[in-house]
Amino acid sequence: METKIVKISPENLEKSKNDIKLAAEIINSGGLVAIPTETVYGLGGDGTNPSAAKKIYEAKGRPSDNPLIIHIAEPSDAEKYIYTNELYYKLASKFMPGPLTVVMKARDIIPTETRGGLSTVAVRCPSNPSANAIIKESGVPIAAPSANLSGKPSPTTAQHVIEDMTGRIDMIIDGGDCEFGLESTVISIDNDTSVTLLRPGRVTAEELSFIAQVNIASAVTEGLREGEAALSPGMKYRHYAPSSPVVLLDGDFSKIKAYLSDSTEKFALIAYEEDVQSFRDVFPDADVFSIGGREDTASQAHLLFSVLRKTDKKNYDKIYAPLPSRAGIGLALYNRMIRAAAHTIIKL
Ligand code: TXA
Ligand code: MG
Repeated sequence: METKIVKISPENLEKSKNDIKLAAEIINSGGLVAIPTETVYGLGGDGTNPSAAKKIYEAKGRPSDNPLIIHIAEPSDAEKYIYTNELYYKLASKFMPGPLTVVMKARDIIPTETRGGLSTVAVRCPSNPSANAIIKESGVPIAAPSANLSGKPSPTTAQHVIEDMTGRIDMIIDGGDCEFGLESTVISIDNDTSVTLLRPGRVTAEELSFIAQVNIASAVTEGLREGEAALSPGMKYRHYAPSSPVVLLDGDFSKIKAYLSDSTEKFALIAYEEDVQSFRDVFPDADVFSIGGREDTASQAHLLFSVLRKTDKKNYDKIYAPLPSRAGIGLALYNRMIRAAAHTIIKL
């Protein structure tokens, strides 16, 4: 299949009118378009069309029991696809449009293929202007998982999407780098007062707790226990994995230096910006990748998936990375990194 690649500048959507129309036409005729959002790139198809859902699973190489998020243009459009409640509107008025996805009971218009066979569906209203324009133009909810091959880090640049999806989908919209860089926060709305955090993201548990009681699903910080059912099917798959094994080191710079000093492995280091030069001085043979300043969780979120993809360009015995803290956005970084590392953490 030929994949059309077009650039859209979100500051000047008027200029991209024809490309937006074309993207919407492809979606309306059952095809697939990769779309930039403020979190990561999404692989979009018509969320009301079962055959589009099947194509999405095929293009990603994703198991079809892992449900898709449907993307809407206005928070109130959710009414057409899920049974909302008061808490939905309280959350929507604070966090939508933006990087918050809510899971609620689905209406029949959303086919079982899109829902991965569940009775619920995940809904999100992205703030990215290009995404918003394409959803509006298509007039349908756009089902979109992250636009990576299953098991790879989510794409945060058009180049990442081009690497994974060329030849597999109809169109890729290049809207530049994604602003945040980690996928949206996913919660289920359980009743009028409480939510369960299924996947941490830019909207933090602390922020949500001003509006609702927040339970954190244990799989956010741990692996699924033997025999435990996944609240969110995505939890059970290995995720965000580079091709070389990742090991998280729980300790400061000097402990990491001491731990690695006798190593005979060919390793790469993911390091906070402040430590990059010192690591290069001590380990001149290692590739050292900066993940942003130690306290700058926004930069870390922005860089993580790009850095993980860069490590894929070579084979290492190990990729060592610092274990993030779990406060605020740190929880989202922690959650992605323990998955990239298949839960291998060494306490120093
Ligand atoms: O930021 C994002 O959310 C991006 C952009 C494109 O919007 N999308 C994204 O989609 O990350 P995806 O499919 O890669 O991740 C969706 C996650 C999966 O872990 C899935 O299991 C979970 O949301 N999910 C979807 N529907 C669900 C449902 N009905 N119940 C529980 N979890 C659900
Ligand atoms: Mg994904």
